[in-house]
Amino acid sequence: MTEPTTAVILVAAGSGTRLGADVPKAFVDVAGRTILERALRSVLGMAEPAQLIVVAPSELLPEAGRIATAAVGAASSYVSVVAGGDTRQQSVAAGLAALGDDIDVVLVHDAARSLTPPALFELVIASVRSLGTGVIPGLAVADTIKQIDWMGSVEKTVDRSALVAVQTPQGFPRSVLVAAYASADHDYTDDAALVAAHGTSVTVVDGDPLAFKITTPWDLAPAESLVQSAPVATQWRTGVGIDVHAFDDDAPLWLGGLYWPGEPGLAGHSDGDAIAHAVCDALLSASGLGDIGGRFGTSDKQFENAHGEVFLTATVELVRGAGFEIGNVAVQLIANRPKLAARRAEIEVHLTALLGAPVSISATTADGLGFTGRGEGVTAVATALVTVVG
Ligand code: CTP
Ligand code: MG
Repeated sequence: MTEPTTAVILVAAGSGTRLGADVPKAFVDVAGRTILERALRSVLGMAEPAQLIVVAPSELLPEAGRIATAAVGAASSYVSVVAGGDTRQQSVAAGLAALGDDIDVVLVHDAARSLTPPALFELVIASVRSLGTGVIPGLAVADTIKQIDWMGSVEKTVDRSALVAVQTPQGFPRSVLVAAYASADHDYTDDAALVAAHGTSVTVVDGDPLAFKITTPWDLAPAESLVQSAPVATQWRTGVGIDVHAFDDDAPLWLGGLYWPGEPGLAGHSDGDAIAHAVCDALLSASGLGDIGGRFGTSDKQFENAHGEVFLTATVELVRGAGFEIGNVAVQLIANRPKLAARRAEIEVHLTALLGAPVSISATTADGLGFTGRGEGVTAVATALVTVVG
């Protein structure tokens, strides 16, 4: 693996006083997923791999670790979770201490801006690399801005054409950000102000309205409706998987994740569970992740004689890590035996629990034709539907 040269410090250690929930802000749900999980997924949507440092409240490190592990799946080596401080600036400093040796560009991002599109991260990274300055996203100010005195009387209307409202991710060459933090003598309102005070220029690029910060309970409503109104047309992907195994009279039969006493077994490097393997292939196919052979090679001792659930659990992790949720899976077994009818519901319940999504099973014979018809082995065909997580 080539080490990433970009890092994203995701600050999620605030208490969320203004949101006023009974858990810190990053752990509040927006339409079924925590703010932290949504923020992680938006970072993971970048094409370029990055080191990801999650800065969480010290008392919730294990919980943050669980959320991060579930969100990143197979990319877990890129992620670390560290404890934050009393102020945002201290939390960023804690994140900086965890930077890998190869990192030369650092982005600091508020987990509270959890719907930020991956493209904004990519724009900031590319701009830091080409300009060599600090780069921050900003939006033109739409409201008329007034300067007032302490009594509230308007002194003047400020020229808003020279103003922008800034967002995160804010990106910097590593050396610049580290040096600025090392010499910071007080709290600044954002990383760009700290860096500018240290003498480095900062450039504003076009921000994105979706990078808004969830601050008060009022902000949760637009966040929820944005998530729920994500375009449906691009959300679904289908996949197909086929697996064939020959009978081996001396082996025990494992099929659909269940043991079948008294039935001839199936030959294979693992336990020969054609149903489980076809399901894995269909899920990997739907998620564009290749196939079971490429993911869990026969040379890997870990999978020797492994049962179906080992592959299924690892596949579910890969699929989730790649940003998909499983919609449903359908499998058909083509075989003379075993007769599935008596245990069909049992297999469905078992596989549904493993996948966290409905699995339906059917079976047929091949009318005496071919290797399945002659009773030499079984074929399982599976289809899967996955949704792109918005
Ligand atoms: N943050 C942090 N450590 C802190 C304070 C803030 O990591 N000590 C993070 C927050 O988790 C958030 C981001 O900085 O993702 C922006 O801060 P803000 O929106 O102000 O969040 P909170 O400080 O949690 O909220 P509040 O100010 O309402 O308490
Ligand atoms: Mg705050």
